[in-house]
Amino acid sequence: MGKPGFIQHIRPRQLKSGTLQLRNTFCLGGFSFLAFILLTISGVLLLFFYSPGEAAFSSLSEIDSALPYGGLIRSLHFWAGQLMVVSVFLHMVRVVWSKAYKPLRELNWVTGVMLFVLTVVLDYSGYLLRGGQESGAAASVGQTLVKTLPGGHFFSTIFFGQPSSLNGSTLNVFVWHVFILAGIAGFLQIFHFWRIRKDGGVRPL
Ligand code: HEM
Repeated sequence: MGKPGFIQHIRPRQLKSGTLQLRNTFCLGGFSFLAFILLTISGVLLLFFYSPGEAAFSSLSEIDSALPYGGLIRSLHFWAGQLMVVSVFLHMVRVVWSKAYKPLRELNWVTGVMLFVLTVVLDYSGYLLRGGQESGAAASVGQTLVKTLPGGHFFSTIFFGQPSSLNGSTLNVFVWHVFILAGIAGFLQIFHFWRIRKDGGVRPL
């Protein structure tokens, strides 16, 4: 029996030979997770000084100019977001390429599709939180799009609140971005990792 403890618990006892080779995964799932960790840390730091709504744009300008390393933390949050979108997409392409969506991994494929959608919506809602004209325009486009769906008015109201066309940041978007979407994404990633172990590890090429 191995040593008890968390590290021992998360380390697999056995691995199929070759599954750790870089060409099986290109570590793209790993990069996506790394981006998520960076986003969580920098996002929590931004939370201390960011104000949603009317004051969004000015609170971010203040983070940039007055807060020590504020601009760096903001850039880190932005670029980690872009890295995550790209790496999650490439990870998905890799999974298709190695046919790892097939049984018995279909549940993890579905979990992955949910993670992909969450990643894109997180990136979009983060853009709205910047405040300012571009985010106001992006909110208008999103609202129009959501309203074409059945029950769209309801969903648009709970997701967007009442953004002005000059500022996409609202308390609603903030709550979705910071708590609901990020929380669900965190939970689904833990489930995703648990399923990889349950499904016998990465599918070798
Ligand atoms: C937050 C986003 C995601 C994270 C952090 C993540 C993380 C990971 C990690 C670390 C692995 C182990 C192998 C590797 O690194 O490639 C993996 C495997 C896997 N992922 Fe993801 N993933 C994400 C999104 C997705 C998406 C969008 C899909 C597909 C729609 C997906 C489907 C799968 C499947 C099917 C496996 C098993 C692969 C195999 O057995 O070869 N994942 N994921």
